[in-house]
This record gives sequence, C-alpha cells and structure tokens, in this order.
Amino acid sequence: MVQVAVLGHGVVGSGVVEVIHQHKESIYKKAKQEINIKYILDIREFPDLPYHNLFTKNFDEILNDEEVKIVIEVMGGINPAFEYVKKCLENGKSVVTSNKELVAQKGAELLKIANDNNLNFLFEASVGGGIPVLRPIAQCLAANDLYEINGILNGTTNFILTKMDKENMEFADALALAQKLGYAERDPGADIDGIDSCRKICILASLAFGKHVYPNQVYTEGIRNITLEQKEYAQNFNGAIKLIGRSVLKENGKISAAVYPAIVPYDNQLSHVEDVFNAIMVRGDAIGDVMFYGRGAGKLPTASAVVADVIDCVKHLSARKYLSWSEGSEDYVENEEKSISSFMICVKNQNGIKDRITEIFGNVEFITRKNGEDEIAFVTPKEQEYKITEKLNLLNAAVLFKLHILD
Ligand code: HSE
Repeated sequence: MVQVAVLGHGVVGSGVVEVIHQHKESIYKKAKQEINIKYILDIREFPDLPYHNLFTKNFDEILNDEEVKIVIEVMGGINPAFEYVKKCLENGKSVVTSNKELVAQKGAELLKIANDNNLNFLFEASVGGGIPVLRPIAQCLAANDLYEINGILNGTTNFILTKMDKENMEFADALALAQKLGYAERDPGADIDGIDSCRKICILASLAFGKHVYPNQVYTEGIRNITLEQKEYAQNFNGAIKLIGRSVLKENGKISAAVYPAIVPYDNQLSHVEDVFNAIMVRGDAIGDVMFYGRGAGKLPTASAVVADVIDCVKHLSARKYLSWSEGSEDYVENEEKSISSFMICVKNQNGIKDRITEIFGNVEFITRKNGEDEIAFVTPKEQEYKITEKLNLLNAAVLFKLHILD
C-alpha cells in the first residue's frame, strides 16, 4: 500500500479525493498497489465529510511521516505551495501537482531537486486539464524536433469567446455564466487577461524546447477588449477569434512566446475548438501537426489527470521519469515585436484612406461588416510586428483594433 497526502481541498483537491475513493479497485489494478490517502491538508474544517478524520492543518505532520511517499499539491498559488513542494522533494517524497503558477515560475528549480533526489515531480494536470499533453510531448514525440506550439489553453476564455461568436452574447454575461459553471479561476482576471494561458504556454514551451520560459518573458494580452463587432469582422474573414498561446523555436536557437487574441481562419482546426474545450497543436519535423483536444477545465477532468500522475508515480517509486528542462535565461525569449504575423487592422474611415493603406501596406484585403461605414478594416501581408507599427504611424489614422491572424 502506498500512502499519499493531499495538500488542499478545493475544487481539484476534493475531485482528487473523490476519484481515488471511487476508483479504488481500478486504480489498484493499474498501480499494482493500493493508494491510500493518509492526510488532507486544509486550513478549513469539513466535519460533515465521511473522510473528515483525514484532515490536518499541520504540514509538518505530513512532511515528517516517512510512510507518505507521494504528496499531491492542489492548493494553487506560489505561497506556501512552493515551500511545501520543495520540502517534500528534499525529504524523499515525490510530488504531483496541478499548480500551473508554481510550475511556470519554479519548474526548473523543482525538477532539479526532484532529479537530485531521484524522485518524481509530475504535473500533467497543469496544462489542458484532463488532456494528456505533457507526457506525449516528452515521451511519444521524443524522436521529433518540435518547433512550434499553438494552443487554446484556457477553458473560461474559450467558453466566453464561443458564446460571443455563436450566440452574440455580451462579454460580461458569458463571463458570469463561466463563473457559475465553475470554470473560472478564483480571480477571473487570471483567465480573461491571459495570465492562466501565459503560465501554460510557459510550461509547454519549457518542455518542448528544453529551457525554462518564465511568465514575465511572455507578451500577454487577454480578451477584455474583444467586441461583437470584431468577431463580426473575423467571421466575414472566415475565421473565429480565439485566445492563443503560441511559442516558436527560431533558427538562432531562441524562441518567441506570447498569448494574445487572434483571428483563427476556419481552415485551421483550432478555430473549431469550442466552449470549455482546449486544444494544443504541436509541430514537429518528423510528425508534422499533432493536435491534443479535450476538456481543459473542471473538477473531474483535472482530478483525473492528477490521479493518473499519482498512479505513474506509484509505478516508478524508485525511478525518475522523463520530464525535465534546464533553467532559462534573460535573452532566450525574443521580443514579440520581432515575430512575423499578418494582422487585421481596423481604422476610422476618412477620405482617401483606402489608397493610403494600399500605398503603405501593399497588397491588403479589405473586410467589411454591416453598419461599419465609419470604419475600414484590412488584412496586412505577413510582417514583423514592429514594421506594422511603423506603417501604422505613417498612416496616422485612429486605430480601432489590431488583431493577429494565426497561420
Ligand atoms: N481557469 C482555468 C480555465 C482552469 O478556464 O482553463 C483550468 O486551468
């Protein structure tokens, strides 16, 4: 029997306990050992739960119990999760976490401690909720040189954008509905400002390209300013607006990494990923495109990924698994302004503006919408963003919006 402890009894933590208790037999068959929850750490009390006797408020009780071999950290945030996880790894306990903030900030450091102590630090649930994506990238695609990742990495924002796109719902109403359904982070700003997606692209890029990418190196823009008018322009261009996390390996060995709302043309499969679903598209030299798709948020999908990692840990209690990357560096992530993209730009209409746009930007495609006579929207050829900015300055018109277009 393997004794485990669960740190945190929130949405994911209670889901983990539920999955371990309800699937005891099938987990036993897969892990070849019984997994027993010995402690649950939480500052709150849950006297009405049938397993109320497992709760403790004292982390040291778990840390000092040598019987506990695996600790499941599902508290979220950096403090005290980082300190607890670090101490567990330094004290001979493998750790499984769903905490994307922790992995995005401290992944390289914690992986090194795990490695030095011949322990596992697994975090499949930190990206894509229930979608197996980290393990396949690290293991199944290991024979490829990966060079590009594009993903819809946040269920809440994808739910909101889908409601706006398909039902003409206002942003605020769609957000309220996502919160009611339990998809949103405690602070919904982490979803709608792109912070959650930023953490996830950091983890994906670190794993795929081998060096840690820190959240403060990633250009991050959310969906607060997306309007129903913009989605109409996107539709008229045959595309849908999606919040995209993107990272590309450059020829000079550096990478780009960014999160922004982008128009995704309908011939790109990511445009058809709807509601709370997430999808991660990975490009490799041998395999071409591979897409991972599934439920990216919610109690049980996330808990199922956590418990799968626990089973993997049990099966490899004395062997290190494959996940790892090295520390990053300041100049590893290139300024996003150097990345090449085409854009949809919308400016205020004025006399002669179309000619000036063509003169400055070259061969553009003009897009119209109903009742949009006061505006001119156009799609630029692909170019580095700083050059587009220079051209917009030359045009000297009031810019209503500028959106990336995904390849
Ligand atoms: N708030 C996150 C989302 C939860 O909406 O995707 C899963 O990380």
